[in-house]
Amino acid sequence: METWEKENGVKFLRKAGLRPEQIVLDFGCKMGHYTIPAAFVVGSKGIVYAVDKQQQALNELQQKAKANNLKNVKIVKTSGQTALELESESIDVILFYDVLHYFGKHDRKKLYQEAQRVLKQDGLLSVYPKHTVGDDPLQEFRKLSSNDVKREIENSDFYFEEKYCGAISHDDSLNQGCVLNFRKNESHNCI
Ligand SMILES: C[S@@+](CC[C@H](N)C(=O)[O-])C[C@H]1O[C@@H](n2cnc3c(N)ncnc32)[C@H](O)[C@@H]1O
Repeated sequence: METWEKENGVKFLRKAGLRPEQIVLDFGCKMGHYTIPAAFVVGSKGIVYAVDKQQQALNELQQKAKANNLKNVKIVKTSGQTALELESESIDVILFYDVLHYFGKHDRKKLYQEAQRVLKQDGLLSVYPKHTVGDDPLQEFRKLSSNDVKREIENSDFYFEEKYCGAISHDDSLNQGCVLNFRKNESHNCI
């Protein structure tokens, strides 16, 4: 995974839309297979908020960030709540990578609403909907297709922008997967 975090993951996240100096929220970051490459992309003038409810995984991430001299990773341990202690319209990019299947429909809706709140007006919501039908189905996602997930996010006032596919990190190896990118609907931008 070291090559993924330092090289291929960096390239993938650039393709998916991350840019230097951005403020990124990696929600459900675990030990940071996306946090670390995101931190390399945004650089020393950017920040990656790495949010998880698992202290042990966050400890591992902290060690890795230190070993890579990445001072732009801000670790946030939560109790699993969807409401985050982040200012409204303060985030350029949110990653919901391989995490939405942990949530029931009602809580996913709350999470999308929280994403609407913390994202800047032109912010990007990037989603990796793993564990849907035909993709090692699990938990809440076992009956949903990737298109179903796309539709429910669109129904939460986002519009679908683009899809990026490739060999991407899942757990501790690479698999073929696609991330779906969304932006806030204009109506939400006029508040
Ligand atoms: C399968 S891992 C994915 C890790 C990472 N995003 C990746 O793709 O490599 C899912 C992570 O989401 C975290 N998670 C699940 N529900 C959460 C919640 N309600 N709040 C914060 N983290 C959560 C889990 O603790 C776990 O570390």
